[in-house]
Amino acid sequence: MKNWNVRKAVVAREDMPEEHRLKQSLSWPHLIALGVGAIVGTGILTLIGVGAGKAGPAVILSFAIAGVICACAALAYAEVATMFPASGSAYTYAYVVFGELLAWMIGVALILEYTLVVSAVAVGWSGYAAGFLTSIGLGLPAELVNGPALGGIINLPAIFIIFVVAGLLIAGTRESATLNAILVMIKLAALALFIAVALPVFDASHFQPFMPYGFPRSGPSGSEVGVMAAAAIIFFAFYGFDAIATAAEEAKNPSRDLAIGIVGSMVLCVIIYMVVAAAAIGAVATTGFANSAEPLALILREIGQPWAARVLGASAVIALPTVILAFFYGQSRIFFTVARDGLLPSSLARVSSRGTPVRITIFTAVVTSVFAGLIPLTAIAALANAGTLAAFVAVCAAMLVMRRREPNRERRFRAPAAWFVGIFGILGCLYLFISLPTRTQLFFLYAQVIGVVLYFIYGHGAAARARESGAA
Ligand code: ALA
Repeated sequence: MKNWNVRKAVVAREDMPEEHRLKQSLSWPHLIALGVGAIVGTGILTLIGVGAGKAGPAVILSFAIAGVICACAALAYAEVATMFPASGSAYTYAYVVFGELLAWMIGVALILEYTLVVSAVAVGWSGYAAGFLTSIGLGLPAELVNGPALGGIINLPAIFIIFVVAGLLIAGTRESATLNAILVMIKLAALALFIAVALPVFDASHFQPFMPYGFPRSGPSGSEVGVMAAAAIIFFAFYGFDAIATAAEEAKNPSRDLAIGIVGSMVLCVIIYMVVAAAAIGAVATTGFANSAEPLALILREIGQPWAARVLGASAVIALPTVILAFFYGQSRIFFTVARDGLLPSSLARVSSRGTPVRITIFTAVVTSVFAGLIPLTAIAALANAGTLAAFVAVCAAMLVMRRREPNRERRFRAPAAWFVGIFGILGCLYLFISLPTRTQLFFLYAQVIGVVLYFIYGHGAAARARESGAA
């Protein structure tokens, strides 16, 4: 079975007709822009408040830890992604390297990741949209911008933006490079504005005590605190770089440009995030913005700059949907690949006459809306991170296994110091995973158990039939 799949992945690339080969026009500055565009979102705009609540001023350290671990996973991701250009990301790599059952489990993890990132960014968007509307005198009732766990009824703006994005996808919208570049500029300009306005009121005393809740995870389940508990949530702020790996084919010099693109965008994000965090804490002590739905705008209002808060809020409202769009699109690609392999009913991944997967898109919109409408951001982001961490462990392991199994196989991109990067990536992701709230780990486990049961009831036999019909 494994050989069959390896062959399929390789043939797909070698057989690529000339007219389908993309022009190699991107160099590393483009790739860094692409990466930063996909990465900057709810993590820095909203989860910084959650992180501040868990780590105090040491949330700065949480950003650095999560960034370094994510960079290792990203390098492994780029190496494996360029070996198996067939889409489906970590699910495909796991299928080829580890076989069907593990691939199915990674598929479940990825579906958690993509679905919940959509929900989480929608909730982050809602916080800024509601804050912006209030600032111009059009505030919504609190019950309609929070789910029951936070004393409300439903988060309506979050559901609204999910259906807007679903509509765009059904209409066949793709992210264009130009639009992406403009939105990257808007996001970075908003963060630059924040730094410029907040830094002049910097008060170093806000950094004392630096680590009020300690380093490792502590506290009762659901309220874990400490630098690592914060890093496990803040990790959300760093992923989305798959955008760079999937642009490998268009890179002028993939082995050099991809490494610079990935590490460069990670380093840039770590620096930007740490400076934003330092400016935020310097302006208002962490207790003043911890767990806010729009912490950066709140800080700007607290220091008497409501106009800057409005500009920042409007920028978030304009730029965040692109992150939702990217993950929403990724979700449909994963469902497609899983269904093609026979592990999901193929009718789910049917494409409409417009060339878009309408059923999957509506199904995804409904599922993501339930989470976004009812569940608090922290819980959603934590579970999204659990799925992503599992996928990253699989990708790092896949890189190491392939280095052993087929050391001489052509690699368009080779991760530098692969053994260190792979092992550090695996251990770092596992450490972040055990730093997540216990409840999140249990939910992740339940999802996997349900997934494995479904596999044995349905997926295994269906995959065998799909293989037979494919081989015939
Ligand atoms: N890194 C992305 C964000 O923070 C998912 O929104």
